[in-house]
Amino acid sequence: MNYRHSYHAGNHADVLKHALLRRLLELMQRKDTPLCYLDSHAGTAFYDLQGETAGKTGEYQDGIGRLWQRDDLPLWLNDFRAAVAGHNTADELRYYPGSPQLIADLLRPQDRMILSELHPVDAETLKQYFADQEQVAVHQRDGYQLPKAFLPVAEKRALWLLDPPFEQPDELQRCISALQIAIQRMRQTIIALWYPIKDQRLLRDFYQQIADAGLPKALRVELNIRPADNQMGLNGSGLILVNPPWPIWEELEQVLPWLARTLAQSGEGSYRLDWLAGEP
Ligand SMILES: C[S@@+](CC[C@H](N)C(=O)[O-])C[C@H]1O[C@@H](n2cnc3c(N)ncnc32)[C@H](O)[C@@H]1O
Repeated sequence: MNYRHSYHAGNHADVLKHALLRRLLELMQRKDTPLCYLDSHAGTAFYDLQGETAGKTGEYQDGIGRLWQRDDLPLWLNDFRAAVAGHNTADELRYYPGSPQLIADLLRPQDRMILSELHPVDAETLKQYFADQEQVAVHQRDGYQLPKAFLPVAEKRALWLLDPPFEQPDELQRCISALQIAIQRMRQTIIALWYPIKDQRLLRDFYQQIADAGLPKALRVELNIRPADNQMGLNGSGLILVNPPWPIWEELEQVLPWLARTLAQSGEGSYRLDWLAGEP
C-alpha cells in the first residue's frame, strides 16, 4: 500500500468529489429520518497543506486554491468552500478536511458514520481523531467488504463513498462487484464511486460493465482538466452516482461547466454528465 492521500489532498479531484458528496448528504437530509454514511476508503480526516507531503506536490493550489478567492461560485460550491474555510483561520488556506471530516461537519444527532481504512497508520490516526464521537465507528479493514459487513443498515437509508486508490490493476473490477453486492443487499443505497480518468481503453470497458451491472440508476459525472489523451497522468476524474437524489442532475449542469473553466490546466477543461443505467 504505497498510496497516501496527503500528497493529493485538495486537488481538482477532491474538489469535485467532496463538493458533490456533501451535496448528496444534504439532499438526503431533507428528510428528518436517520441515515448512515459509509466511507470504505476513508484516508485520514484532516490534511496540513504546508506539511511534508501536500506541501511537496502543491496539488491543492490548482484545486481548492483556485476556488479560494473567487466570488462567483455557483450553488453548493460556495457551501463547500465555506466548509473548508471553517477549518482554517482568517483568509489563509492551510488545512484541508478529508471526506470523513467534511461529512462529520454535517451529521445530525440521529445520523451515523462508518469508516474503514486499511493502512495501519491512517486507520490509527482516524481512530484517535474520532475517539470521542459516538456516532462514528472506525474499522481497520478491507473497504470492499463493507457492503457485506454493514448493509442493509438499520436506518434503511445509506450514502456510501467508494474511493479506492486504484493501485491494483483489478480495482475497477472490484468496485463493480462491490456495487452489485451493495445493491443486492440494499437496493436504495446511494453510492458515489470515484475513479481516475487516465486510461481511456480501461474506462470504455468500465462504462460498459457499469451499464450491464443491473444497477437501478447510474449517473456518470466527469470533469477533465486536460484533454483526455494527454499523457501527463490524472487528466480528470469521475464519479458514478448510483440512485442519485433529485435534483442533482440539474444542479450539476450549472456546477460542472464552471468547474471545467476554473480548474482547467492546459487547453480547455471539459465535463460529461449522462446516464449509464436507468435513465429516468
Ligand atoms: C483516495 S484515498 C481516500 C480519500 C478520502 N476518501 C477522502 O476523500 O478524503 C484512498 C484510501 O484508501 C486506503 N486503502 C487502500 N486500499 C484499501 C482497502 N482495500 N480498504 C480500505 N482502505 C484502503 C488508502 O490507504 C487511502 O488512504
